[in-house]
Amino acid sequence: MLYVRRAGVVGSGVMGSQIAEILALNGFEVYLKDISKEIIDRGIANIREDLEGLVKFHKTKADKEISRIQEQDGLALSEVQKLAIRSKLRPSYDEKRIDEAFARIHPSESYEPFKEVDLVIEAIVEDIEEKKKLFKELDQVTSTQAILASNTSTLSITEMAAGTKRREKVIGTHFFNPPITLPLVEVIPGLETSEDVITDVLDFLSTLRNHRYPLVPIRVKEVPGFLVNRILGAMLNESFALYEQGVASMRDIDIAMKAGAGMPMGPFELSDLVGIDVLYHVDESIRRMEGGIIVSKPTQIIKKMYYSGRYGRKNGKGFYNYS
Ligand code: NAI
Repeated sequence: MLYVRRAGVVGSGVMGSQIAEILALNGFEVYLKDISKEIIDRGIANIREDLEGLVKFHKTKADKEISRIQEQDGLALSEVQKLAIRSKLRPSYDEKRIDEAFARIHPSESYEPFKEVDLVIEAIVEDIEEKKKLFKELDQVTSTQAILASNTSTLSITEMAAGTKRREKVIGTHFFNPPITLPLVEVIPGLETSEDVITDVLDFLSTLRNHRYPLVPIRVKEVPGFLVNRILGAMLNESFALYEQGVASMRDIDIAMKAGAGMPMGPFELSDLVGIDVLYHVDESIRRMEGGIIVSKPTQIIKKMYYSGRYGRKNGKGFYNYS
């Protein structure tokens, strides 16, 4: 049975900061590490902003639902009905709750506090050499009991574990962007990960909630790209290829997949949210590994955008402009 009191998160970017936020909202003390104070400060500021957004979202949820019913469905609700909606959708986040969660997140420029953690989740850059270096370091700085997890989108858990003296305690926990809203976590055992650790991690994740749902961990075999990204990657590549062939405009492809396939976001909007740099690394690593079968034809567009630094929402320009 995995007993987590304190956790470490490495990488305070898009994913790491929200994973830290989820852990803190679930009552755990979290140490958040990145390569510089400036970057950690930015991560912490994003967490604060996100937490405040949660309060606002939950506070206005009932009123939005009432307006939606009245305006879209054309129904006039009685005061009793409004009261019932307000009671059902009463805010589960308030200032006190987010202040307490925020106080549980401790920025850290060194690995010193990692001596005391029971679990580390890394969300650093999607580069196997960087991740291997990090796992070696984590193996030295954490207690031998600690489980070391990677949020990698595609890379080999077995390869990351190889440089550690605790291969049985290294595992993939692949959250989805934005983890504060999306509940799925792919749990990926490496070749040497023990059954006990797999069960512990699946059980532990099942006890957590993001701001909407209990997390939904599923066990996935270690193959490049795992499960969801294999399916999504094929769909995105096909969308890029159709756009390059001039079959439809970027905006129309996005509209088509939302209005025709029921997707909440179009493929180009989704790419900008995920990050073009992440997609580039995902694509490279799937191709690099045997077994990473890409269904559609490779496309040049992600490479070009990556080289010109159009990373998507995170730096204001991707397929769309966010400035
Ligand atoms: P990001 O670029 O937003 O953040 C990465 C952070 O790691 C940066 O702040 C960087 O300074 C830091 N970092 C790099 N090397 C480090 C080191 N050696 N030690 C400490 N910090 C270091 O990246 P993002 O999008 O958060 O992705 C992180 C990981 O999560 C990647 O493995 C990615 O494949 C995975 N992932 C990303 C998703 C997404 O939609 N962006 C979804 C699911 C997984």
